Amino acid sequence: MKTSSLLAAALVGLLSLQAAAAEAPRLVTRDGRHALLVDGKPFLILGGQAHNSSNYPEALKTVWPAIDDLKANTLLMPVAWEQVEPQEGRFDFSFLDTLVKQAREHGKHLVLLWFGTWKNTSAQYTPEWVKLDPKRFPFNVDREGKANYSLSPFGAETLKADKRAFVALMGHLKKIDGDRHTVLMVQVENEVGTYGLVRDFSPAAQAAFEQPVPAAVLERQKPRAAATGSWREVYGDYADEYFHAWAVARYIGDIAKAGRAVYDLPMYVNNALRDPLEQPPKPWNKNFASGGPTWDVIGIYKAAAPAIDIAAPDVYNPESAQVNANLGLFQRPDNALWIPEIGSKPAYGRFLYAMLGRGAIGVSPFGIDYFDYTNHPLGTQATDKAIVQPFERVYRMFAPLQRQWAQWAFEGRTQGIGEGDDRKPQQLDFPGWTAKLTYRLGRFGEASWGGDYAKPAPGTEEPGGGAAIAQIGPDEFILIGERVRVRMEPAAGTSGMLLRAEQGRFDAEGRWQMERVWNGDQVDYGLNLPAEPVMLKIKMGRPR
Ligand code: DGJ
Repeated sequence: MKTSSLLAAALVGLLSLQAAAAEAPRLVTRDGRHALLVDGKPFLILGGQAHNSSNYPEALKTVWPAIDDLKANTLLMPVAWEQVEPQEGRFDFSFLDTLVKQAREHGKHLVLLWFGTWKNTSAQYTPEWVKLDPKRFPFNVDREGKANYSLSPFGAETLKADKRAFVALMGHLKKIDGDRHTVLMVQVENEVGTYGLVRDFSPAAQAAFEQPVPAAVLERQKPRAAATGSWREVYGDYADEYFHAWAVARYIGDIAKAGRAVYDLPMYVNNALRDPLEQPPKPWNKNFASGGPTWDVIGIYKAAAPAIDIAAPDVYNPESAQVNANLGLFQRPDNALWIPEIGSKPAYGRFLYAMLGRGAIGVSPFGIDYFDYTNHPLGTQATDKAIVQPFERVYRMFAPLQRQWAQWAFEGRTQGIGEGDDRKPQQLDFPGWTAKLTYRLGRFGEASWGGDYAKPAPGTEEPGGGAAIAQIGPDEFILIGERVRVRMEPAAGTSGMLLRAEQGRFDAEGRWQMERVWNGDQVDYGLNLPAEPVMLKIKMGRPR
């Protein structure tokens, strides 16, 4: 190549690198899988969400140490409407300025949580001038016209005011971060819906309820009775809750759209889950927040709020059957798996392997700061370093290869699982090979030999095992896990064997560093992963 063409090629490379760096974070979908692109490449959010009241400069002092201890790459932090617009029309984004500056100093990204019209369905984060003016900012009302505690999605003034504040927020964010992308995504409102009332029965809501179901909804949410018509005609007993989901989604979608027009970042909603094992789901019976983005109405959210990319589960029930069902229901070709909240109890730690293995774009335990408060019994009772311990151990393994893992996940090469409450064996099937996982075993010999051989290894008293595996070549795997025995076996009808299992790690540059080769006792009875997480690079082979 001539010098001039070499120079030209270098320039093109440089320009495309700059273009990637200038590109705002965005979600992409291929073959039904999703990736969050940050500076042009898949990014894995290893997040931590602060407590609800940590969104003040002084409080950040208790946040950063915990986020650093967690080895998180991203902090999820509320920004409240009451905080940025305490007086109508006068905005104060000084907290956001401090937050973004400090995040950069700590080398962390941010996800902002817009606590606006709804926070856990209620109006508690709206400014006083909203709270005190129910005529202008109406609540949902029941059939008798009695006001409920939750603001109505038909409050035209509420929507206008929330949207204006959100647009101001996004405009300010663009100004301070549009070229840096410290902030990766924005959650619009928080755990929306209404408890105790299936929908708004105000005259405006009733008039909309009697209209034909919009075509976009019919396309995404299968009719249950008539193919077209009013909400009642099309959805029968489910009409009220589906209608409320549509009304709330449309409201949020409108806010998100206006915000994205100013600064186009990925946006999502989070969900207080309904029971995923109630199959088929029964009509609303006051047993979840009607109108929220529960798994059964994701289609309605997609139709009514196209500016919202993701409906995301907040995982606060550690029963393994519940966790797995929820992950399955929220991971869809039209919905990236993203878990913005997980309870902070140690029992949740093992599910990070399932979440990251399944190809989530990220995860985030909740209540990660050293504020002297905990949401026990939802989360841990600890207020010190013990909070982060169940999650740090997993993040520690993924952090050095997070970009690579996100790329593998996007290519469909990864799988993962957490130990079940039943402690039974599990398996993960890959093209050509199967990983068989067993729990509560010793690290040498077979339990069937009895006596001390049948005694589980220390640290396996409670379900805590898990593994995430990436198939990086036809016969090569990266295995990350703990408290599990893994046997890699050839797929049924084929033969093959373990050739080499290297224990090691990825260095800061993403290069594999071999530390030792497992052989002999360490592989004779399967790969016995200890109570501290390890990473193995595994090579399988087939006899010629
Ligand atoms: C889910 C909400 O989204 C969080 O903000 C928080 O309130 C937790 N529940 C409970 O601690």
